[in-house]
Amino acid sequence: MKHAILFLVGVLIGAVGATIVANALRARDAYARGAMDVMQHHHGGLRETLRAKQCNANRTATTLTQLRALSNEIEPAVYPDSTPESSFREFSSRLRDALDAGIAAAPADCAALAPIVEKVGKVCEECHQQYR
Ligand code: HEC
Repeated sequence: MKHAILFLVGVLIGAVGATIVANALRARDAYARGAMDVMQHHHGGLRETLRAKQCNANRTATTLTQLRALSNEIEPAVYPDSTPESSFREFSSRLRDALDAGIAAAPADCAALAPIVEKVGKVCEECHQQYR
């Protein structure tokens, strides 16, 4: 009986400990995943406007600017306590360059927007292939 109780107490303590560690790990990644999810939302929104052939210049400019602002968060979100290695920084700055070029181009219609959305999406994918 005594052993059974000790065993149960041990299991309980183990379960509580595992939950604390799992929560801490999840909280650690939460900001990185959140930032990525919001970028996904905006990039997906641009793709959707292309599909619907409703490329509104003002809305496009706003979305590209939001993506550009989020791209500043990639490094601190994914590596909160350290400097990412150079190829990770390279992917991040390539994304920023693609977005800067897209904003500067001020795409007025879908024909102008399509190559920008594709280029941005390619940089997302390239980084994911290596780091996600
Ligand atoms: C410099 C590298 C890099 C770039 C550029 C990048 N990502 Fe990510 N992305 C990551 C990493 C690393 C993860 C995994 C994060 C984690 O799970 O902690 C990730 C995860 C994601 C996820 C999954 C999030 C989740 O909830 O698990 C989505 C969606 C995503 N990225 C979208 C994008 C989009 C859209 C772009 C381009 C606009 C982009 N990413 C650009 C590195 C990058």
